[in-house]
Amino acid sequence: MSFINAMKSRYTTKKYDDTKSIDSKKIEELKEILLLSPSSINSQPWQFYFVSDKKVKEQLAAASLFNAEKINNCDTLVIFNAIDDVALFEKQVNENLPESAVNYFNTYLKQLSDQDLKIWFDKQVYLSLGIFLAACAQMEIDATPMEGIEPDKYKTILKLEGYRSLFAVAIGYRAADDTNQPSVKPKSRLAQPTIIKTI
Ligand SMILES: Cc1cc2nc3c(=O)[nH]c(=O)nc-3n(C[C@H](O)[C@H](O)[C@H](O)COP(=O)(O)O)c2cc1C
Repeated sequence: MSFINAMKSRYTTKKYDDTKSIDSKKIEELKEILLLSPSSINSQPWQFYFVSDKKVKEQLAAASLFNAEKINNCDTLVIFNAIDDVALFEKQVNENLPESAVNYFNTYLKQLSDQDLKIWFDKQVYLSLGIFLAACAQMEIDATPMEGIEPDKYKTILKLEGYRSLFAVAIGYRAADDTNQPSVKPKSRLAQPTIIKTI
């Protein structure tokens, strides 16, 4: 499928068919795609959790507000976590990145307040969300990006140390009667002249 057609076909799935599962090779491919996601200075201030265990998924669903049913019925819940410990991030930079990136960190990023640095981490993680949703579209896997989660509860359930959950993505295959799919509910976007300017 062409990329434009994949983007036209993808949508935020609201109802999953819990009898359908994603081939394990595709799950491994998605993991590799996330690993390949770009980030500023190749900082990679993230961790991704793939949860298919039914019991853990149920616990996370109970900490996901209006998104619970999607999580219980999807195949896998992918949780996107940002690093939350500046000292841990500095160690990761020093141990893994080339001198130019270390210099960038020391010259520019270290001057930021911890709060601003964490906002910078979050931006990198959101970029990986775009890559992930595009990949799912191309691979014809249905997906639901969800900020509607309770990060503190996720932290406890997943026993996160030095990371905090920003959002999660349910993946699987749509229920035949999902009323949000484009064949039932056409995609809605602002008019192109409002959004795209060509000079
Ligand atoms: C960062 C982000 C967070 C979102 N959070 C939720 C959510 O918690 N629950 C939900 O059902 N949809 C959520 N959405 C889906 C959006 O509402 C949806 O992408 C938007 O309405 C466009 O529709 P489409 O994805 O079907 O093209 C989220 C989307 C993004 C990108």
